[in-house]
Amino acid sequence: MMVTIKTPEEIEKMRVAGRLAAEVLEMLEEHVRPGVTTGELDRISHEYITQQQGAIPAPLNYHGFPKSICTSINHVICHGIPDDNKKLKKGDIVNIDITVIKDGYHGDTSKMFYVGEPTIMARRLTEFTQQALYAAIRCVRPGARLSEIGKIIQKMADQERFSVVQEYCGHGIGKVFHEDPQVLHYDGYTSQSDLELKPGMCFTIEPMINSGKRYCKLMKDGWTVVTKDHSLSAQWEHTLLVTESGVEILTLRKDEDFS
Ligand code: MF3
Ligand code: CO
Ligand code: CO
Repeated sequence: MMVTIKTPEEIEKMRVAGRLAAEVLEMLEEHVRPGVTTGELDRISHEYITQQQGAIPAPLNYHGFPKSICTSINHVICHGIPDDNKKLKKGDIVNIDITVIKDGYHGDTSKMFYVGEPTIMARRLTEFTQQALYAAIRCVRPGARLSEIGKIIQKMADQERFSVVQEYCGHGIGKVFHEDPQVLHYDGYTSQSDLELKPGMCFTIEPMINSGKRYCKLMKDGWTVVTKDHSLSAQWEHTLLVTESGVEILTLRKDEDFS
């Protein structure tokens, strides 16, 4: 296991990459509407990242992923592939996951969008998942143990009778997209569970919460992960820096008030 501690120079680059990733989500807000295709959202994002930001969309060609962003609609848990034939429709909920590389460093963040008015359950699941992410972020400070993150998310989900996806985790991030440590969103044990958080560590928290059971199925395209029972799934993700006094959200958006 190799958990990197970022130098002050690296932290500055992580801040820039994180801000750019957040700005892609802010830019997309007006484009996520009934009738738009996820293929169009991919093209808009690719253009913005490469032309306006002078950055690289990390998913493109990552282990063969064919597009620049991930778009995961309704019962899709994560890694949905943008498609010119997939139109968003009223009542959908969609996660858009953006990772950019700027000056060699990664910023990784995702949020849920409502397409028109969501159902009561879709809104409840979506709002809950953001609150679970926020509660987990509040655990992050020097001296905390990595396992506190999964414990709080699992406890909150149990109270709501939602379930936590176990197969996909948060991750360390820096020069490498997915590096140590693995960040569990459930109350489980790994060799890194007791890791003590230290200033200069960077990692993501990105809980995937299902309205039904926790089980996943991988589609034949080799990427799209769906709920086995076809229940709804929501996800929110931030890239974080452990600071001397607590935590800095490197991918915070203007529309968020985290306190
Ligand atoms: N952004 C995802 C994450 O949060 C990873 C996407 S990898 C891809 O870790 F290849 F599917 F794009
Ligand atoms: Co991530
Ligand atoms: Co991501």
